[in-house]
Amino acid sequence: MNDIPRRVWLEIDLDTLVDNYRKISEAVAPCVVLAVLKANAYGLGVLPIAEALAQAGATSFGVAEPHEALQLLPLGKPVQILSSILPDEIEPMVEAGVTLPITDSVTAARISAAAVRHGTTATAHVKLDTGMGRLGILAQEALPVIEQAAALPGLRLEGIFSHFPYAYQTGSELTDNQMDTFCAIVEQAAARGIHFAKRHIANSDAINNFPRACRAPFNQVRTGINLHGSFDTAGRRTLHVSPVLTLKTRLTAIRTLPAGTGIGYGHTYRLHHATCVGTVSAGYADGLPLALSNRGYLLIHGVPCPVIGRLSMDYTTVSLESVPEAQVGDEVVCLGGTGIHALTVEDWAALKNTHPYEIICSFGNRVQRRYLSRA
Ligand SMILES: Cc1ncc(COP(=O)(O)O)c(C=O)c1O
Repeated sequence: MNDIPRRVWLEIDLDTLVDNYRKISEAVAPCVVLAVLKANAYGLGVLPIAEALAQAGATSFGVAEPHEALQLLPLGKPVQILSSILPDEIEPMVEAGVTLPITDSVTAARISAAAVRHGTTATAHVKLDTGMGRLGILAQEALPVIEQAAALPGLRLEGIFSHFPYAYQTGSELTDNQMDTFCAIVEQAAARGIHFAKRHIANSDAINNFPRACRAPFNQVRTGINLHGSFDTAGRRTLHVSPVLTLKTRLTAIRTLPAGTGIGYGHTYRLHHATCVGTVSAGYADGLPLALSNRGYLLIHGVPCPVIGRLSMDYTTVSLESVPEAQVGDEVVCLGGTGIHALTVEDWAALKNTHPYEIICSFGNRVQRRYLSRA
């Protein structure tokens, strides 16, 4: 039973992903790259991706929460929880050796106490809120908290970091101000004898739009979406990374329907003339944006086939007028492909009026993740 092929699958090209990682590493050197693999590597499946990156020499991984950290620890690379840690998560994370964020003095004290209880030294990065307005220590409060944390037993302040809300906007004043604030705090801490081995602020947007975020005093960047060959829709694309994703399915029915036939829920499309239509085995449950309805196309034999009618949970209907040779069972490319008709994550994001992150994170549960690699 288990060898029945899946109807919808997402091909993740690990060779391209590794190539992207290497290109990013070269572009930001001497900064090192922390691969951000939170949310199951943006929904693509964290372990195969992390293993490929580890083999390619990735030095460390960033995640959002403890369960994601635990999954990656067996790879033997430092794993860092970005952004926040809850009180009852501290003890097991310290015991496991996960690098933790310090977002306030109470958290610093709790991490220290847990480390002392376990007879270990916890590694932590001070998280500054220089303008994101989400998490971290406000600039004006940073120095006393850092000094207090630096004096705590069992706590090694390995790093200091912050995050940008606007780095997709080339020349944004706020982004420059955030870096000024960050550098001032690093200098003030250094004047008090507190030195951070790792200093990082750049995400993918900043790597592309703010070269300053990849130069001293910064010596690490955190990238997620660029690893997948995607970019924020706004801003520059200075990295030459390539898309890693292809979403595929199959044609499940081919019928010639008479003129006047209404297609799908709401009959939002009506055939002008007798038309050969194909029903494709993927819908919004698989991550296809509803916005493809009557506007997008899918590729069959490399030929764009317009979506007609409203796509539904499991099926999408296309016109097959341009591919009369299509057969039931043929492969359909929903996203990806090559040549001028290739469909990118950014295309779908624009169509859906969202950002590429939501597209990548929205492939459905039943979509099989297939990892391609020549290795
Ligand atoms: C703190 C932090 N750093 C880095 C990243 C990576 O962002 P990106 O995928 O844009 O590179 C994220 C993701 O949202 C993040 O929350």
